[in-house]
Amino acid sequence: MNEAHIAAHYSSASLQERLDAALGAAGHDPLHPTLEDLAPVDQFHSGGLEATEKLADLAIGPLGASDHGSQWKVLDLGGGIGGPARMLAERFGCLVTVLDLSEEFCKVGTELTKRVGLDRWVKFQQGSALKPPFPDNSFDLVWTQHASMNIGDKTELYLQSYRVLKPGGRLAVHDMMAGPKQPIHFPVAWASKADLSSLSTPDQVRQLIREAGFDPYHWQDMTEIARASFTNRLASYEKAGPSASSLSVNLVIGEKFPQVMKNMVRNVEEGRLVSAMGVWRKPEYGD
Ligand SMILES: C[S@@+](CC[C@H](N)C(=O)[O-])C[C@H]1O[C@@H](n2cnc3c(N)ncnc32)[C@H](O)[C@@H]1O
Repeated sequence: MNEAHIAAHYSSASLQERLDAALGAAGHDPLHPTLEDLAPVDQFHSGGLEATEKLADLAIGPLGASDHGSQWKVLDLGGGIGGPARMLAERFGCLVTVLDLSEEFCKVGTELTKRVGLDRWVKFQQGSALKPPFPDNSFDLVWTQHASMNIGDKTELYLQSYRVLKPGGRLAVHDMMAGPKQPIHFPVAWASKADLSSLSTPDQVRQLIREAGFDPYHWQDMTEIARASFTNRLASYEKAGPSASSLSVNLVIGEKFPQVMKNMVRNVEEGRLVSAMGVWRKPEYGD
């Protein structure tokens, strides 16, 4: 998988300016947006903000930490422009590092984070999830949503996640995965053609994560939520009157947006794409 091509796939000229215009047109203050104002764009995965909140509750809440994530060091692999990272910082007090291939996303993410006043909690770093430039045992939570579809070497992805986690730390995953019928129809949100896409089945993902050394904690199918989310995103885009300037992930996906959303729905309905989320734990020494 060529990482320069993946970064180029996600790059769109003047994202910040177009995002500011769309925020203004939607009646929001671009210089002081709330997390909810930004969510239609910066929660760049199926299920939007709700899915992020669900994964956070699973990874941080019910696992019984009395501090509920406060000051936890979190690494968001492929964190995009940082919607999930800002939610983890605002709601749980986590200290989040976003590692993403796209230089533009890191730049826009840094600016948005400053505007919502979370820049002491959330930092962006350009780089690959396959080579996270961090020491062993340095994070409490490794988090990744909808990035692994661009990552062929998932064995290395989960080995690196294990390496950088402290003993007892958690891995939280929310992804699109291969359904029983293949191949998928392109373009999709993460790839205009097959050479940028690498999907594993849910069973393969679970096996790779186990083989990396993790203990399973929670697993949940999210396919119906993904289908509804793609259908709704397409409907609100069409209702707003197709326009590249409406406040949605079309700002990132560009003019292919309607075709991409139709393909995502079709892929799910034909059993080619499924979605799931899960949480795992790195064993403590002596477990
Ligand atoms: C669909 S977006 C999801 C963004 C974010 N996780 C979210 O849910 O809002 C996929 C992101 O993964 C990033 N990505 C893909 N492959 C990556 C890799 N090998 N290392 C780091 N980031 C990667 C892309 O640059 C892009 O920002």
